[in-house]
Amino acid sequence: MATALCPGSFDPVTLGHLDIIERTARHFDDVIVAVIRNPQKSQSLFTLEERQEMLGEVTAHLTNIRIEFFKGLLVDFARDNGAAAIVKGLRAISDFDYELQMAQMNQRLSGIDTFFISTSPQHSFLSSSLVREVAKYGGDVSSMVPPLVAKRLTERYGEPKDRA
Ligand code: PNS
Repeated sequence: MATALCPGSFDPVTLGHLDIIERTARHFDDVIVAVIRNPQKSQSLFTLEERQEMLGEVTAHLTNIRIEFFKGLLVDFARDNGAAAIVKGLRAISDFDYELQMAQMNQRLSGIDTFFISTSPQHSFLSSSLVREVAKYGGDVSSMVPPLVAKRLTERYGEPKDRA
């Protein structure tokens, strides 16, 4: 049984994340979506519980997924959960330097390999931080996030056309 980790902040989960999670679930027996409890990011939009609820709902069609929180080193969480691999999406060359550095550090620390999946082109510009910013200022992000997340953003900020 090979278990993979898909780590991140998921504040909120986007269609880009979901694409990577779905494709990871096709290649591994089990996938843990590992949501970081990050004390540095005090500007989070959604609470950990809200993020977990959204992730749970939007991955409900997948049978080999569970959503967990972690803090501290990702590789410690990976080892504690018997994960064989970390899986990340690569959007553009700009992601590469930092992702490679993290992958190499994680490999050195634990022997756990990181596998990169190329982001689908239609999602290559997407990030949670941009989604948060666009939604906050009234932009329509409904084509970039699952419908539930779009609903939660509307509850937070109002209908896109009414936002300002
Ligand atoms: O969605 P994000 O915020 O880009 O996710 C980044 C994350 C959580 C994957 C990364 O910050 C991480 O793995 N943090 C855990 C702490 C850790 O292990 N740091 C050493 C990395 S080499």
